[in-house]
Amino acid sequence: MQDNILVIGACGQLGTELVEALRNIYGDAHVIASDVRQSPDEVFKQGPFELLDIMDKQALETVLQKHKPTQVYHLAALLSATAEAKPKLGWSLNMDGLFHVLDAAVDFKIGKVYWPSSIAVFGPHTPMNHTPQNCVMDPNTIYGISKLAGERYCEYYFNKRGVDVRSLRYPGLIGYKSAPGGGTTDYAVSIYHDALTTGEHSCFLGPDTELPMLYMPDALKATLDIMHAPADQIKIRSSYNLAGMSFDPKAITASIQKFIPDFKTTYAPDHRQAIADSWPNSIDDSEARADWGWQPAYDLDAMTKDMLMNLAPRYGKSLSL
Ligand code: SER
Repeated sequence: MQDNILVIGACGQLGTELVEALRNIYGDAHVIASDVRQSPDEVFKQGPFELLDIMDKQALETVLQKHKPTQVYHLAALLSATAEAKPKLGWSLNMDGLFHVLDAAVDFKIGKVYWPSSIAVFGPHTPMNHTPQNCVMDPNTIYGISKLAGERYCEYYFNKRGVDVRSLRYPGLIGYKSAPGGGTTDYAVSIYHDALTTGEHSCFLGPDTELPMLYMPDALKATLDIMHAPADQIKIRSSYNLAGMSFDPKAITASIQKFIPDFKTTYAPDHRQAIADSWPNSIDDSEARADWGWQPAYDLDAMTKDMLMNLAPRYGKSLSL
């Protein structure tokens, strides 16, 4: 049977790239992008697009009746810093959106559901280094609390309602094709743009704030790999730990300076410092590696080179990389 895939929250940082990757695999007509807003990005002109507010259950059901998707990727969420600024909206969007999708998966017999979790499920009492899959989880942000509750709901719907739901705890995602919005890890995206424009980055985290990160091509690969793996290989139905690399603002600055020696970072930590401090430094993802063969390709310098190479022409720069 030909798969039809619905991507909810398609115009975000991950969705934009995932829609492109899915259209390359399944064909433009079989990947339905949806979001509360229309994006000018070219990829959305190449196949079906539905305006959809995930808080509106009826509207979701109308889209499901129309396109009869066999898989749903539900990416719509408020990220950490935005959800702290708008806690009620953060909680209701992140939770109600997931309830609507999981209930619809039962009612419409959707074959597979993908829902992203995050390193934000961990908290101040979590072991900070090589954080294991199962450990103390005491998130203290609305975003983290919603993701941890969401993980429990996913596992519950798998066990009790038979929904084949799969999930990854993403580290900070870094890519050049689409802009991030509202995350604590997002300095690691803007720093590359600053390096190619002003030559200076003012960092909202301190120099030694180490966080787990992942380059977008690896994030896409992990997402597609877990969705394509046979169901019996997916042994964790809450969400898998996932790691690529870990670095602090000092280290990413040094990595950029290998290519742009005059680049400078200054430090002006703000309210996001406390969020970052409550998250792990590094993640143990051995279960993802063992169960469905996860293996990242990019380290910090390989990512820096690829980011700068792809962003430089946008700013009329040529770098010898
Ligand atoms: N990148 C996210 C954030 O910073 C973490 O999942 O909010």
